[in-house]
Amino acid sequence: MELPRGTVYLALAMLALAATVNGGTDCVCLNNKHAGNCTSVGSTCRCTTYGSNVTVVCETLSSKCLLMKAEINRNKSGKSNRPQHAIRDNDGIYDPECDDNGNFKAKQCNGTSTCWCVNSAGIRRTDKGDKDIKCDEVVRTSWISMEMKHSETGNDLDKPTLESDIRDELSQRYKLNKNHITATYEKPFVFIELKQNATEKSATDVDIVDVAYYFEKDIKGDSLILGPGLTLDSSSGSLQSNDVIIYYIDDKPPEFTMQRLTPGLH
Ligand SMILES: *[C@@H]1O[C@H](CO)[C@@H](O)[C@H](O)[C@H]1NC(C)=O
Ligand SMILES: *[C@@H]1O[C@H](CO)[C@@H](O)[C@H](O)[C@H]1NC(C)=O
Ligand SMILES: *[C@@H]1O[C@H](CO)[C@@H](O)[C@H](O)[C@H]1NC(C)=O
Repeated sequence: MELPRGTVYLALAMLALAATVNGGTDCVCLNNKHAGNCTSVGSTCRCTTYGSNVTVVCETLSSKCLLMKAEINRNKSGKSNRPQHAIRDNDGIYDPECDDNGNFKAKQCNGTSTCWCVNSAGIRRTDKGDKDIKCDEVVRTSWISMEMKHSETGNDLDKPTLESDIRDELSQRYKLNKNHITATYEKPFVFIELKQNATEKSATDVDIVDVAYYFEKDIKGDSLILGPGLTLDSSSGSLQSNDVIIYYIDDKPPEFTMQRLTPGLH
């Protein structure tokens, strides 16, 4: 099928614009809008993300750690005419330490004095301590449970169709094997479970933690992916939601001394 010419030119113009915005050189990082200084290597595009020197391959998802770091560092820089007292929702976002592969280090600190241990999703799983706190390992998040409520739609959505549409879209958009995804529709709720243990994940597979982060950004209207947005129901496109609650289930239970009301709630 041939695309109309206008569409192609528009697409090219948009890519060129994106390249300028990203500070890119000879290619554009389609799967990470926070990456720039790009070079094509064979059939891939490789760039660095803001705030770190780690190279990302743009044909796949970038890691959540690098993305959070880029977001924090981009927000810091640049002038704006926001008033001094402007506040923003900082829940869950901090300037993380990533390892050479872009994964969260087990120990994270805020400034120089307050530190805590995180899981592979970068979520705190211990009390906050001082800088001598010991975090022996990054405990893997092998199960992510997401819950969203859609706004009222006129037409009734067909349960099996919607559930399979959601699995297909998540798998295609985020490059995650469908085996790791289940979707359940109980009007007006959609429940999505992502499960992937350490033995099931090869070095090149995307991690469910990164998929959940990309998904959350898509739902909140701040997509990290250039180009078309997320479409959860292909038939009518009427499934809309702008919030998602995400629970992280780790291979080991968290180690909070005081009972928290909502363990693992992001
Ligand atoms: C690209 O390189 C310049 C110069 O080294 C640097 O200032 C800029 O932050 C880099 N951009 C990214 C996205 O890494
Ligand atoms: C980090 O420190 C700042 C300033 O003290 C504070 O506002 C913020 O909530 C802290 N963040 C975390 C994750 O502890
Ligand atoms: C990982 O998941 C697979 C498939 O669900 C399962 O067969 C296997 O026992 C799991 N491995 C571990 C170490 O939990």
